[in-house]
Amino acid sequence: MQNNHHSGFATRAIHHGHNPADHEGALTPPVHLTSTFSFENVDEGAAIFAGERPGYFYSRISNPTLDLLEQRCAVLEGAEAGLALASGMGAITSVMWTFLAPGDEIITDKTLYGCTFAYMRHGLAKFGIQITHVDMTDLAAVEASISEKTRIVYFETPANPNMRLVDIEAVSALAHAKGAKVVVDNTYATPVLTRPIEFGADIVVHSATKYMGGHGDLIGGIAVGSAEDIAQVRLVGMKDMTGAVMAPFNAMLVLRGLKTLKLRVERHCANAMTVAHFLEGHPSVSRVFYPGLLSFAQNELAARQMPGFGGMIAFELKGGFDAGRSMMDRLELIRRAVSLGDAESLVQHPASMTHSTYTPEERAEHGILEGLIRLSVGLEEIEDIIADIDQALSDIPASMAA
Ligand SMILES: Cc1ncc(COP(=O)(O)O)c(C=O)c1O
Repeated sequence: MQNNHHSGFATRAIHHGHNPADHEGALTPPVHLTSTFSFENVDEGAAIFAGERPGYFYSRISNPTLDLLEQRCAVLEGAEAGLALASGMGAITSVMWTFLAPGDEIITDKTLYGCTFAYMRHGLAKFGIQITHVDMTDLAAVEASISEKTRIVYFETPANPNMRLVDIEAVSALAHAKGAKVVVDNTYATPVLTRPIEFGADIVVHSATKYMGGHGDLIGGIAVGSAEDIAQVRLVGMKDMTGAVMAPFNAMLVLRGLKTLKLRVERHCANAMTVAHFLEGHPSVSRVFYPGLLSFAQNELAARQMPGFGGMIAFELKGGFDAGRSMMDRLELIRRAVSLGDAESLVQHPASMTHSTYTPEERAEHGILEGLIRLSVGLEEIEDIIADIDQALSDIPASMAA
């Protein structure tokens, strides 16, 4: 049960890469809390540094606890190799710094998580990298926008916060035809619901802070891809440019989270579907964005690309942001907090919180509604989640209800 590439998802998430017999019988993998590793002699150290023999030398580059997590994430995503980083932003930035140079272009979808948008639009742009936002639901527009300068095609699916989906297979084919790499942020879907590499993507990044960790107690990031790409991200983007390595203790927490990832995601999906239907039928709600709803514009793509629709919902009230603020302030069980994918249901207002990195004009241009509410549906009993939303909505003053 050590390298069970062919076992089912949950089995690999629990067992892959760890054999208790190699660790004094320890059922759970030991945590290697060490910053450095000693060598038998100078020649051995030099050979490990040169990559001429396997081994560890410093935990900013590699560490056995991170190794196990990296292998497990790679196998769950169907990738050759993985890398564990200090945060989702650490993963995204380490990948970008590795493959981009001045004069290159990134094509991204219109909707991105706020800090990814800021990193590209306000950060990378300062270094001579062109950022072009395209509506990736329009494949002709994607094709027309990719040029010889395009090094990376980047998107989230579903996108944070408005749940837009991107057809990974179609966009990857268009990018590859012009020699660009496809990088997908798979934080929302998790490898339980989408494995972008199986659809042709080259690199997948995650905020492991979210569903992978799953318990709201860590900040972490993951990147997976081909052995060659990931080795470059490790030795260039992570080692020399960002230094954004994951701490071994956090790797242990993510390994623990992965053991229940499938179970948790299944329950997140079931709870979110019920909440989405409830919201859709509520007289105070104007729009609900959830890929599992028949009213969702990309429901057909969702059904083709995702076996379940995840735990994230975006919606807007008829009374706009004023009604939304009033509703959010009245919630008693659901916590007002950013982040997502935790056991606790969390609600937030993207325009003033996670997506305040966009100007109001940019939000309008990128399809992020000012009154949008983002809900991360947690693992509480569904009756309690619905009761909380119901009481918060029924208390909305009549003047705000429409
Ligand atoms: C889709 C997505 N990608 C990346 C990130 C960044 O992750 P982290 O906060 O772990 O740096 C987030 C954080 O909210 C996110 O929602």
